[in-house]
Amino acid sequence: MPCLTRPRRRLFYIYGDEKVDEALRMRYRYLDLRRDRMQHNLVLRDQVVRYIRDFLSARGFVEIETPVLFKTTPEGARDYLVPSRIHPGQFYALPQSPQQLKQLLMVAGYERYFQIARCFRDEDQRGDRQPEFTQLDLEMSFVEREDVMALIEQLMTGIVEEVSDRELITKPFARLSYRDALARFGTDRPDLRYGMELIDLSDVAARSGFRVFTSVVEAGNPVKALCAPGCGDYSRKQLGELEEIAKAEGAKGLAWLAVEANGAARGPIAKFFDDGLLRDLLARAGANPGDLLLFVADAPAVVNAALDALRREMAGRLGLDDPRKVAFAWIIDFPLFEWNAEENRWDPSHHLFTSPMPEDIPLLDTDPGAARGQQYDLVCNGYEIAGGSIRIHDRNLQEKVFRLIGLDLETARERFGHMLEAFEYGTPPHGGIAPGIDRLVMLLAGEPNIREVIAFPKTQQAADLMAGAPSAVEPAQLEELHIRVVE
Ligand code: AMO
Ligand code: AMP
Repeated sequence: MPCLTRPRRRLFYIYGDEKVDEALRMRYRYLDLRRDRMQHNLVLRDQVVRYIRDFLSARGFVEIETPVLFKTTPEGARDYLVPSRIHPGQFYALPQSPQQLKQLLMVAGYERYFQIARCFRDEDQRGDRQPEFTQLDLEMSFVEREDVMALIEQLMTGIVEEVSDRELITKPFARLSYRDALARFGTDRPDLRYGMELIDLSDVAARSGFRVFTSVVEAGNPVKALCAPGCGDYSRKQLGELEEIAKAEGAKGLAWLAVEANGAARGPIAKFFDDGLLRDLLARAGANPGDLLLFVADAPAVVNAALDALRREMAGRLGLDDPRKVAFAWIIDFPLFEWNAEENRWDPSHHLFTSPMPEDIPLLDTDPGAARGQQYDLVCNGYEIAGGSIRIHDRNLQEKVFRLIGLDLETARERFGHMLEAFEYGTPPHGGIAPGIDRLVMLLAGEPNIREVIAFPKTQQAADLMAGAPSAVEPAQLEELHIRVVE
């Protein structure tokens, strides 16, 4: 990485930091930030953002700020609400993304917009999630999916190769349909730094004498496997650890076969496969002497979740997930909706404004679950880095999508009337995307979570331990805001 700036005067050096309790680091964040690692990360972040601004500005993009005090901009999380003093009982919502505003900027004729935008989502925290985080938010008029993808591919390639010291191993970026990603990797954010693809062995398993397999296949469910090279000598203890990982994802067990030097198979289920069937099985799985085959038989979602977790685990154990390497993949052809069984309705798989594939629009009336969206996600090393889509720009189509997700017209107009109305004034076809800056910098810095690339992050409990936020406020402030706290 070129030119790491250093503060001129360092008062203290803190060494041997990695064992320091994270709560302590957060409490004294200003000291924590003095460490070389944190200095490096924040400078890298600065360089990434600067590269983005220069890159987009050179291509005619205009950076426009949008409000933070706004109305609900749903992206699937809960809103953070801000009470209004002037309008008793009324609230602003902090945007989960500038989605609606950037679309309205397209209506307004700014054909190429971007913003380094702060987004707010009240959702369960994970290592790659913060309640407030930063997106490179971007929108373009008169574009198709390929235009947005090409632009982002060029931008990401430039960032990795010119700003970071990582090696880009996917040139061009890989491309997978949602369906293929699930079939081959068990997830829609596959880590492509390594192979170890999942193999559907339902047909071979159905011919075995193992009741667990045959009954699962009879019920119409799959038996899939993962071949871990060179792990055929795993101990009972190690196999037990792997079984626990599968069970944590809902699997009922983990069947295994170890391939011996002479090509025979060892393990409790070996006896259920005769020689011919075993040959078929090993050939299909691409298994060689010394390898370990791990099987899960269950409903597709369980099989995929368990084998995805095992694939990542085995990659870690085998040292295949080299943090110096960066592998990007586009995931496309997502279903437009997901069935929400609890609420008995369709949910948008991306968000409300994603356009269906033009040829799938008639399916909205006949079979909404089969309609694909013009959505594209960018994944990198097993993380979702960006999500975007070509948008609906037609009022009737937008209202139809609102209806399908169970928003009656009155509620839709109350919440999104400004969007529907804007579509009446001549809206260019448009689309965009939003890469998460925190996640991107985390990967480029080789960090295990996004807290390491944010100057003042929140904890897993969404708290700031340094200043002590959130906190109680003075009764007078609450009164001004017309709010009473219920004990
Ligand atoms: P989406 O919801 O997919 O799309 O978010 C885009 C990207 O933002 C990042 N991200 C997060 N990063 C840290 N903490 C979080 N809680 C968090 N949530 C999301 C991820 C993700 O890929 N408006 C659309 C974009 C569009 O359609 O143009 C949107 O927000 O990297
Ligand atoms: P059992 O016949 O229940 O003793 O199981 C034999 C082996 O199959 C054990 O190693 C179990 O962990 C494994 N097993 C049980 N159920 C499943 C399943 N649904 N998918 C994969 N393996 C399983």
